[in-house]
Amino acid sequence: MAPTTSLVMNGWYIGAWSDEVGRTLMQRWIVGRPVCFYRLQDGTVTALEDRCPHRRFPLSLGRLDGDVIECNYHGYRIDGGGVCVGVAEQPDTPRASVHRFPLVERDGIVWIWPGDADRADPGLLPDTSWLSDPEWTHVHGVVPLKARHVLLVENLLDLTHETFLHPSTIGNAAVAATPIDVTSEGDRVSFTRHMIAIEAPPFYEKSMGLTSPIDRWQDGDFYAPGVFQLNIRLAPTGTEEPEGFHMKVIYGMTPATETETHDFFALGRDYRVDDEELSRFQLDQQLAVMKEDVDALEAQEVMVATETVRAPESSIRSDVAGLRGRRLLEKMAAREAAPGTASAGRPRRPSATAAGAGT
Ligand SMILES: [Fe+2]
Repeated sequence: MAPTTSLVMNGWYIGAWSDEVGRTLMQRWIVGRPVCFYRLQDGTVTALEDRCPHRRFPLSLGRLDGDVIECNYHGYRIDGGGVCVGVAEQPDTPRASVHRFPLVERDGIVWIWPGDADRADPGLLPDTSWLSDPEWTHVHGVVPLKARHVLLVENLLDLTHETFLHPSTIGNAAVAATPIDVTSEGDRVSFTRHMIAIEAPPFYEKSMGLTSPIDRWQDGDFYAPGVFQLNIRLAPTGTEEPEGFHMKVIYGMTPATETETHDFFALGRDYRVDDEELSRFQLDQQLAVMKEDVDALEAQEVMVATETVRAPESSIRSDVAGLRGRRLLEKMAAREAAPGTASAGRPRRPSATAAGAGT
């Protein structure tokens, strides 16, 4: 069946990079909900449903007064916990509040849990300690994608596409030609692809001075619903681990709406960590690679969305990880939609235009 997965609310998603959130109110749509992010005076981040409890005006268009947002429509004053503490120029303090989302700020990431707050267990977060490890350095950012979340999940779980979509940077024939080993456990799908004695792709030749033949490892972990990490090792063929160049990539695949996704990324390395020129080069290359993916996925989204007469879908061996990821998402979404669960009946399917403010 073609990918039509509904969105999963109960899971940790990357809501923002820490350096995006400050004393300016920031709106971002997360899994179909408008969220207003800002930093309180003590430095902690808060995230509130971006709808005033009075008449649904976006709180992010309001004014920050200390830790309190004053709504720019009729003056409702909402504190950092989402509770109304008064109305400007009026004697009333109505009993009103907005949802405050569970957050964890760790290793430069603001994690958000858009689903049932009582299920937000920080113990479920993946290990991202390399992002704050002084032995490593990284570049990071977020790219908007007008395509449904599952298409990005499948893109990352089937890296054979590098051969065809990224031949001038990270792809060559060896990627598609080397099979993967796939394992699953709980809400995780993992794969390994170890390419031995292959030609070095252009990106690695330039940034590392590697000459062929090289060994290239790609070990990926998808933490459903929204996180993918890739461990990369590159070295002249025959080099024993732990020698060689190591890189890590994390993608935060955070749905904005049913058909739009925030593509958060960080690319890290454990060599030449003080080389800022190399960091700039790697950021440029990463953005160039992601643009190729975004263009492809947006073209694919149009075809998926307009397919009214369903043709059978064909798959091959290299799709195993992607299909497991898709099924995992379907299972999680079905569990949430089941009657009697706290998430059932949640607001769904906001219009795509309403989400245009997300970045
Ligand atoms: Fe790609």
